[in-house]
Amino acid sequence: MKISQFTLLAALGTVCFRPVVAQQDACNGVYTDQSSCDANSTCTWCKCAALPSGCFEKVNAKKLPAGVYICDSSQGDDGAVTTGYNNFGYACAGAGADKFKFCDTKLSLDERLDDLVPRINNSVAGQQLTARESAELPGIGLPSYYWGTNAIHGLQNVECLKSGQCPTSFPAPCGLAASWNLSNVEEMGRVLGVELRAYLNTGAHNSLDTWSPTVNLNRDPRWGRNVESPGEDPLINGLYGTAYSKGVQYGSDDNYMQTVMTLKHWVAYSVESYDNVTRHTFNAKVSAFDLADSYFPAFKASIQNGGALGVMCSYNELNGKPTCGNPELTKTLREDWGFEGYITSDSDACGDIYRSHGYEPNGTLATRDCLAGGTDIDSGKTYVDYLSASVEDGTTDRKLVDAALRNTYRMRMKMGLFDPNVTSSLREIPESVVGSSENQVKSLVAARQTMVLLKNEKNTLPFAKGKSLAVMGRAVSDGKSILGNYVGPICKDKRFDCFDTLCEGFTKANSGGKTACYDDVNDIDGAAKAAKDAETVVLVIDNAYNGGGEGHDRYNISLEDHQQAYANAVVAAAAAAGRPLVLVMINGGAISIDTLKGTAPAILEAWMPGVHGAQAVAETVFGDSNPGGKMPVTMYPSNYVDQVDFFDMSMTAGPGRSYRYYKGEPLFSFGFGLSYTTFSMKVTKNTTSEIEVEVTNTGKVAGSEVVQGYMAPPARAPAGPGTAAVRGKLFGFERVELGPGETKTVKLKADDQAFSHVGADGHRRLYPGEHTITISRGHNDDIQLVVDRTTDVPEKVVIERFRKWW
Ligand SMILES: *[C@@H]1O[C@H](CO)[C@@H](O)[C@H](O)[C@H]1NC(C)=O
Ligand SMILES: *[C@@H]1O[C@H](CO)[C@@H](O)[C@H](O)[C@H]1NC(C)=O
Ligand SMILES: *[C@@H]1O[C@H](CO)[C@@H](O)[C@H](O)[C@H]1NC(C)=O
Ligand SMILES: *[C@@H]1O[C@H](CO)[C@@H](O)[C@H](O)[C@H]1NC(C)=O
Ligand SMILES: *[C@@H]1O[C@H](CO)[C@@H](O)[C@H](O)[C@H]1NC(C)=O
Ligand SMILES: *[C@@H]1O[C@H](CO)[C@@H](O)[C@H](O)[C@H]1NC(C)=O
Ligand SMILES: *[C@@H]1O[C@H](CO)[C@@H](O)[C@H](O)[C@H]1NC(C)=O
Ligand SMILES: *[C@@H]1O[C@H](CO)[C@@H](O)[C@H](O)[C@H]1NC(C)=O
Repeated sequence: MKISQFTLLAALGTVCFRPVVAQQDACNGVYTDQSSCDANSTCTWCKCAALPSGCFEKVNAKKLPAGVYICDSSQGDDGAVTTGYNNFGYACAGAGADKFKFCDTKLSLDERLDDLVPRINNSVAGQQLTARESAELPGIGLPSYYWGTNAIHGLQNVECLKSGQCPTSFPAPCGLAASWNLSNVEEMGRVLGVELRAYLNTGAHNSLDTWSPTVNLNRDPRWGRNVESPGEDPLINGLYGTAYSKGVQYGSDDNYMQTVMTLKHWVAYSVESYDNVTRHTFNAKVSAFDLADSYFPAFKASIQNGGALGVMCSYNELNGKPTCGNPELTKTLREDWGFEGYITSDSDACGDIYRSHGYEPNGTLATRDCLAGGTDIDSGKTYVDYLSASVEDGTTDRKLVDAALRNTYRMRMKMGLFDPNVTSSLREIPESVVGSSENQVKSLVAARQTMVLLKNEKNTLPFAKGKSLAVMGRAVSDGKSILGNYVGPICKDKRFDCFDTLCEGFTKANSGGKTACYDDVNDIDGAAKAAKDAETVVLVIDNAYNGGGEGHDRYNISLEDHQQAYANAVVAAAAAAGRPLVLVMINGGAISIDTLKGTAPAILEAWMPGVHGAQAVAETVFGDSNPGGKMPVTMYPSNYVDQVDFFDMSMTAGPGRSYRYYKGEPLFSFGFGLSYTTFSMKVTKNTTSEIEVEVTNTGKVAGSEVVQGYMAPPARAPAGPGTAAVRGKLFGFERVELGPGETKTVKLKADDQAFSHVGADGHRRLYPGEHTITISRGHNDDIQLVVDRTTDVPEKVVIERFRKWW
């Protein structure tokens, strides 16, 4: 393909630009000569009159000697000769680039950076270090670069391609975590990475880094961003970041990173806006114990086990210091954990240091703080406005600027963006991958695995097809309500109508039956009648638009009054008429269903299942897909919010937070989830380091089970923080798929990390003594093992030290 493009160009005698075949239409100006193109400051692309089917980038045009017509083959930039690639987004591509040492691929990255960084003077450095508009520097052939493509569960910050293809969108992270199968996350990462590469290759988007994943804990059900968090367990969140990294960063070419990801939000970020306190002003007061035990581990695991190369510092202060301006936090990342990537601020978090936190009086000092705090990229205008002055007046040491430039250009170099003439499979990724049917199938496969069956009294589910079915609830005809937040373009022309609503999904799945949909939740009488008249009832409740969100938390985790009244009426009418009913829950942040838990005969937690969610939910209800997900969060009773201060960051405060510390009775527990089949478990090996569990499908249909291993602290660990857990802390798990009668063996490895516990000083230690391990399916058939480590563990070995700075 690339050969034929080049051959075609050569035949026409013009090699003045690289073929940008897919993006011809994106040329936003048609000019026959360079000067009129240059004269128009809004024009970034020009059309070449001698070759009307191609485009050239103005950046390259500028590199030509003044007055030389860009389409002159003798003078033109013939980057296509070597590789035939579109060099959109690449440095070192123009004529004369070979004279720059930083373009020399034979040198090490450090040598190349030694040459490049001094070329960036103070007046342009601020803009170079700015997200989403790191500007071009035509004098040295550097194109602009867009730091910060959101990619929580699909690419944002892009348009659908001109061909009509839109990026693939996946279930929201809360749902992916409920699958307890990290392969779904790795597959998603791969799709996101490949699609981002395709956008670059076609010249549609000059960015290769993702501002994702979010690995902050679901600390409190009120937090507005629980929809994008993998849940309340540090191990799962770390595995999520690790799997995402493996998929998105490591592609088909071992010599180059496919993309660079960015772990959000470092750290102890957990408040949006609540009682007049916003994320821009919140000071998270967190103990050393909670940081080491709960808030740090997901970041550490993603960096050390996943090789994550980006971190985003958060808006909040941590123990009185803005996170973006805290050098000690960066030492934790770089010196303690070996992080070798770049750090960006959250949007305008450097500005918050002086404007919102009042931590500094002005932008000059905020710039110094952010740079000294290790924030390489400013997502805001602080560096643009103040960096130059801050260095010139001696407030900021230029060495800090050099470090930030090195960290960021290094990432671009690692992705090959300074090596335009090197062949790479990553550059052959065609635009056809964007939203391809193969990628859509991955999203559907993941959506099926996110379903958590919470209740199934008298085998209400699965429903038989071919009967009359009422699909009822506010969300049933609103496609957008099943997508979650951070949604990019889904359908052409910014529409949301190219995928099935729940109503359409059920109508298609209920073959031979009559399906009717009711979405007016104010019509309670009509709904009660419809529930009575139909043979089967699907009742959908949701908090798609009031489950919190970025920038606002919730005060209430129960269903609001009108949906509650509607649901109560439908459930009562169906029960009175003897109609089987399933309550389907569409939510990111939890909905506590104190009463419906008892009254609804069947309950399916579907999270935010995404563009293929309607199909996945309908297949599950009809038994074409057997639910196998487990709760990645605790469903607390709705009065939980009255029992613990939202601003209290302690995991052990009040009734306790998450399954690890909650002392109350949850509505549904972390790790819980039913199936249409039954399973049994048996421990077949139990040594200090490895436990083997045989799990058997004892029912009549195929299904998936998740074997979970929890570790409780030994008696000799100190009392106090860390001892409230009922089963202990999750240290390993595996989801297995089993045909009827089939048995598989699951191996759970318990390493020192698994046996360790964090003390009040934040140090992580191993203690000698008897450790109780619980093997669980999340039900009431737990198996307990006691592992004796009295002799092999010396008294209180510290296996990880905590760096305390306050
Ligand atoms: C400059 O380019 C923009 C974008 O292509 C175009 O809309 C505008 O008409 C051009 N202006 C002139 C004066 O050519
Ligand atoms: C890459 O190839 C193009 C075309 O031959 C050339 O103009 C450019 O200088 C080369 N870049 C480097 C770094 O050699
Ligand atoms: C800084 O660099 C830019 C771009 O290379 C250049 O245009 C500008 O003149 C330089 N400024 C100073 C003060 O040297
Ligand atoms: C929030 O601010 C408003 C206006 O200043 C004030 O009336 C209200 O009492 C405050 N609420 C809380 C919970 O502090
Ligand atoms: C910023 O604040 C510091 C401390 O008050 C002051 O010394 C400095 O002059 C200020 N800088 C600017 C540019 O106002
Ligand atoms: C909060 O919860 C109560 C029930 O506990 C409910 O009656 C009320 O409507 C809820 N408020 C909001 C704003 O959702
Ligand atoms: C685990 O192994 C110990 C001996 O090492 C044994 O006493 C115990 O019964 C085993 N537990 C299970 C559940 O197999
Ligand atoms: C885990 O997810 C992958 C990728 O979606 C899928 O192929 C596999 O079947 C899943 N495994 C189980 C046990 O569900």
